[in-house]
Order: sequence, then structure tokens, then C-alpha cells
Amino acid sequence: MKLFNKKHNPNSFSANEIKKTLHENLEFTAIEQYKLLRTNLDFTLPEDQKCPIIGVTSSMRGEGKSTTAVNLSYVLAEKGKNVLLIDGDLRLPSVAKKMRISGSPGLTDLLMGKGAHIGDFQSPLLTNWYILPSGSIPPNPSELLGSRRMEAILNDLKEKFDYIVIDLPPVNIVSDALSISSLITGMVVVIREEYTEKQELERCFRQLKLSNVNVLGCVLNESKNSNSSYSKYKKYKYKYYQKAPQRNEAT
Ligand SMILES: Nc1ncnc2c1ncn2[C@@H]1O[C@H](COP(=O)(O)OP(=O)(O)OP(=O)(O)O)[C@@H](O)[C@H]1O
Ligand SMILES: [Mg+2]
Repeated sequence: MKLFNKKHNPNSFSANEIKKTLHENLEFTAIEQYKLLRTNLDFTLPEDQKCPIIGVTSSMRGEGKSTTAVNLSYVLAEKGKNVLLIDGDLRLPSVAKKMRISGSPGLTDLLMGKGAHIGDFQSPLLTNWYILPSGSIPPNPSELLGSRRMEAILNDLKEKFDYIVIDLPPVNIVSDALSISSLITGMVVVIREEYTEKQELERCFRQLKLSNVNVLGCVLNESKNSNSSYSKYKKYKYKYYQKAPQRNEAT
């Protein structure tokens, strides 16, 4: 199968604009926390896997999945690895908007066999950081994400990258994250402090367990205190429980 065979205009992919987004997203404390997340993932991921595929999901909307996916992929790339960030939220994509790039072409174009050139998705900020937006919104995201075509695309991409990070929709709203779970190495679950409802979180973990999803760990986003009431979710055997602080938090 030939991927990335069609060139497109690199649109408004400007380094300054992307830097601006990253500076908004990565205050000093947050950068350190994302680096810690990177280290913890290195311990959690299977050593022998050439290119781990890390899905990022949560129970509901707005908990910080996309923010986590962008920043995690960035810190992985910063370490010199070839990293691809994919916007797999084909219902409410936000990576392109956050990174101030065009949302199309993207993943759905690859899924529909239209192809695109991998070089067009290179971030000007880091030469080894690639960002694949969602592409146009399809009528059947769940089927597409779990499809044979998706599997073939990921297998091809695995040959080109050291890490792939996929931003996914929330587990309790749609089945997309569960559909793709057999194609990925594991899932990072984002919990937003004082926002994520415990009942929803329990439901999310139940669904992940039922679908045999390999949960790599949890990120406690916008953490404000050390004795979080979400600490009990450490019990989910996951090998780390990472806190990403509120942005602008004093160090
Ligand atoms: N740690 C944080 N501190 C402050 N604001 C944050 C933090 N994390 C996320 N946000 C903001 O919260 C909003 C939702 O974040 P984000 O888009 O990452 O969530 P999401 O889980 O991907 O949402 P959706 O389910 O709609 O895709 C965004 O405006 C983002 O900038
Ligand atoms: Mg999102």
C-alpha cells in the first residue's frame, strides 16, 4: 500500500504561531510534568515494541485529552524521537485548531485512500514532530477507526516513526476509542480535577476493562492539590498516576 503520495499546500503552518500555542500550553511546571509522563511511559511501554501507539482518552468531553496528546507528543519529539500526533477525534477534532494548522487533508483522507505526503505534516517547530489532523469529518468514525484500512495505515506509519500518539474521543460518549483499542499499544486516561464525575470515571474504566483495553496510566489534569479525591483511581493497577498541573500554576 502506498501512503502519502499526494502533495498538498502546507497552509498556515507557521513556526511562530505553533510556538505561541505551545507556550500557552506548556508553562514551566506543566513541561516538567509532561516530561515525567514521558519517563513513566517509557517504563510502562513494552521494551521490545518498535513504535508504540499511545491512545489518549477520557470519560467525557473537555477533560484535557487533546491538550495532553499535543504536549505528550511534543515532549517525546523533543527527546529526538520521530513522533506522529494523529487527531483521531473524527467527531470534534481540535488538534488542527490548537496548533493553528489546516484540518484537512488528514487522517480521513488516508482512510479513504486519497493519500498525502508525510513531509507536509512536519511541524516547523521540531523536524521530527509530525501532526496529522483529522481531515474532513466522516459519517462513520467508529467503523473507520477500527477498520482494516486503519490497521494497514498504522502498520505503515509504524515503520516511519518511533512513537505515535492518537487523540481520541471520550469513552462514555462514543465507541470510537474502544473500536481502535486493538490496534494500539495502550491508552492513557485523562481525568480533570474537580470536573470529571466519579460515576462517569467508574463507567469509563468498566468499559475499558470490558473491551480489554490496555490502560497504560492516568493523567490527573489541572491538578490543584496533592491530596486529590481522585487518588483512589491509583487502585486501577496502572503503573503511574500522573499529575499535569493547572496552567499558569506557580512553581
Ligand atoms: N491543565 C489545564 N489548565 C488550564 N486549561 C486547560 C488545561 N487542560 C486543558 N485546558 C483547557 O480546557 C479546554 C478543554 O481541553 P481539551 O480540548 O484538551 O480537552 P478534550 O478532553 O480534548 O476535549 P474534547 O472532549 O472536547 O475533545 C481547552 O480550552 C484547554 O485549553
Ligand atoms: Mg479533544
